[in-house]
Amino acid sequence: MRLDGKIAIVTGAAQGIGYFIAKRFAEEGAKVVMADISSDGVQAARQLAKEGNAVVFHQTDVSKNASVLELVEAAHTAFGRVDILVNNAAVNVPGSILELSEEIWDRTYEVNVKSIFLLSRAIVPGMQKNGGGVIINLGSANSYVAEPRLASYVSSKGAILMLSKAMALDFAQDNIRVNCICPGWVDTAFNDRHAELFGGRAEVLKNIRDIHPIGRTIQPVEIANAALFLASEESSAITGAGILVDGGYTIK
Ligand SMILES: NC(=O)c1ccc[n+]([C@@H]2O[C@H](COP(=O)([O-])OP(=O)(O)OC[C@H]3O[C@@H](n4cnc5c(N)ncnc54)[C@H](O)[C@@H]3O)[C@@H](O)[C@H]2O)c1
Repeated sequence: MRLDGKIAIVTGAAQGIGYFIAKRFAEEGAKVVMADISSDGVQAARQLAKEGNAVVFHQTDVSKNASVLELVEAAHTAFGRVDILVNNAAVNVPGSILELSEEIWDRTYEVNVKSIFLLSRAIVPGMQKNGGGVIINLGSANSYVAEPRLASYVSSKGAILMLSKAMALDFAQDNIRVNCICPGWVDTAFNDRHAELFGGRAEVLKNIRDIHPIGRTIQPVEIANAALFLASEESSAITGAGILVDGGYTIK
């Protein structure tokens, strides 16, 4: 049990990568608060609980401070403290700066970047008091390389990598480690609209070797396994790192 007795919050946990992170953490002994704006999280948490995992769901909009504070209170009520925070929730609306509305631009930054500021500043004081903690932010291969017609998304993911490094520096002396997982193309619903830019999902899969030298997409559980490593003591000297789990996407 690599996370025995640990308490975690995972945002965007109703589906996709966040769901698998919550599942892997719980399987390794953590108690997990699954947060998501979608009420689908109720069913997702019920399923994990039925499998014997200690999870609860709290409906949260991570871009709104009042909602974030309610989440933190719910986590304390359920489990008493927070040792691990995974900032995973995000949105991606494709478009160049000429195609994106101001509303989409602001929403992307509020959900993807501001949420990390809001939730982390609500959690860090407790971690400082408890002698340490772990924060994992979900960046992207797009934290390192851009793509056509993804201006708000790639720039928000670049910001998340640097925010992770800034937080890692600020809290290293408090024994709080902050890292950023940077996935390549993971098979989730998140990519449906993104895939349209490549002519649809079937076309992406046909040409996947052009994107990922490993010749396949990445499974959400492969991202969850990286999160598990970063959450556990096995990564005790790693902080401020961008961890690419990208099937080789950024090699060339
Ligand atoms: N899928 C990929 O290929 C890929 C690649 C690189 C990075 N990522 C990153 O991984 C993370 C998870 O992506 P995914 O593929 O699992 O996406 P997903 O769409 O399957 O899941 C995202 C979840 O976030 C939730 N969410 C959205 N806005 C929210 C809000 N305001 N408050 C709370 N929850 C909210 C959604 O309801 C959803 O359940 C994201 O940060 C994404 O940028 C994904």
